[in-house]
Amino acid sequence: IPIHVLNGPNLNLLGRREPGIYGTATLADIERDLRRQAEPLGIALTFRQTNLEGELVGFVQEAGLAGAGILINAAAYTHTSVALRDAISGSGALAVEVHLSNVHARESFRHVSLIAPVCAGVICGFGPHSYRLGLDALAHLMAARTP
Ligand code: DQA
Repeated sequence: IPIHVLNGPNLNLLGRREPGIYGTATLADIERDLRRQAEPLGIALTFRQTNLEGELVGFVQEAGLAGAGILINAAAYTHTSVALRDAISGSGALAVEVHLSNVHARESFRHVSLIAPVCAGVICGFGPHSYRLGLDALAHLMAARTP
């Protein structure tokens, strides 16, 4: 089962960035953890991060062309990017949205996700564990879809 884990802007700074909100785990820690989870499940994991909106759009398109599922933390672009939403809906890929923090307990501009309506579901508020829950959910959806 191919799954692309896509990370948006500023997530390269995890571990140092507002640790009170995002915790002390780095993105490399999260990647290592997900690879450990993916291996026994037969998931082929691609893990990427970019600070650029257009590059994130390109990553989504690539995942779609590869027939991969998408686990995405679009970070701030979650709340702003019509281009990203259109890329997800246009890719035909199954996507699951994740966030480290509980965006609904934060500023009101974080309460709106432009990509949630084109994702199968959303998981937020559990720190790095959000990614684990999201990978589990996406793997189940992919397995149900793959004959
Ligand atoms: C985030 C939440 C977003 O609102 C924020 O812009 C981020 C990280 C999270 O994982 O909690 O950069 O996606």
